[in-house]
Amino acid sequence: MNPLNHVAIIMDGNGRWGLKHKTSRNEGHKAGLNTVEKIIKESIKQKINYLTLYAFSTENWNRPKKEINYLFNLLENFLINKIEDLHKKDIKLNIIGVKNFSKKLNKLLSLSEKKTLKNSTLQINLALNYGSKFEILNSIKKMNKNNDKVNEKNFEKYLQTKNIPNPEFLIRTGNTKRLSNFLLWQLAYAEIFFVKKLWPDFNEKDFIRIIKKFKKIKRNFGNI
Ligand code: IPE
Ligand code: IPE
Ligand code: MG
Repeated sequence: MNPLNHVAIIMDGNGRWGLKHKTSRNEGHKAGLNTVEKIIKESIKQKINYLTLYAFSTENWNRPKKEINYLFNLLENFLINKIEDLHKKDIKLNIIGVKNFSKKLNKLLSLSEKKTLKNSTLQINLALNYGSKFEILNSIKKMNKNNDKVNEKNFEKYLQTKNIPNPEFLIRTGNTKRLSNFLLWQLAYAEIFFVKKLWPDFNEKDFIRIIKKFKKIKRNFGNI
């Protein structure tokens, strides 16, 4: 049985869900938040230590302003309403990506991280304005600037995921098979599960099924 420590998820399909079941893409984003809560709960049950959620990519700035504003409002309200609950559950919130949002949201994110800093049951890495290519270039620049020897260890110490073990597996919902600039370095040896369901339809049972499947995979790491 493979040990499981870190799960990464590309939560895709909210917009299509919203258009199919309600009247707008934004309704899908709202519904997607319920899935986030379900998966957080189940991750704790499964004794997973790290859960990395792709919530907003550096490329998502290409979307209409109205949708972007809705997404960040949703996040703001989620944090205001739920941070106490997350804290009580001993969850640590860590943002990966560049915090260049509104002053209010930047502050809320920093406060939420600070409040939960010492928690240890589950670490949630929320990828916000995150892009793997940017992260990789940034690491290279920092190695250069500090005259570090170029090797894996030095490279990784400037990644936003420093001190976080690599994910054992990645889930992408929404019936699309691509990485969309997510954790390109960190997923080098991850098992990948592409799921047809849209994110708001994904549930604990789907998650458990994937975990079971993962545990039985023969992971070679180049060996035989
Ligand atoms: C993923 O769902 C959530 C974000 C990118 C914020 P999408 O909004 O990409 O949903 P689809 O893929 O358009 O259905
Ligand atoms: C990836 O989904 C980003 C997030 C889930 C936050 P997208 O829906 O933005 O990916 P592309 O653009 O279809 O590749
Ligand atoms: Mg999408």
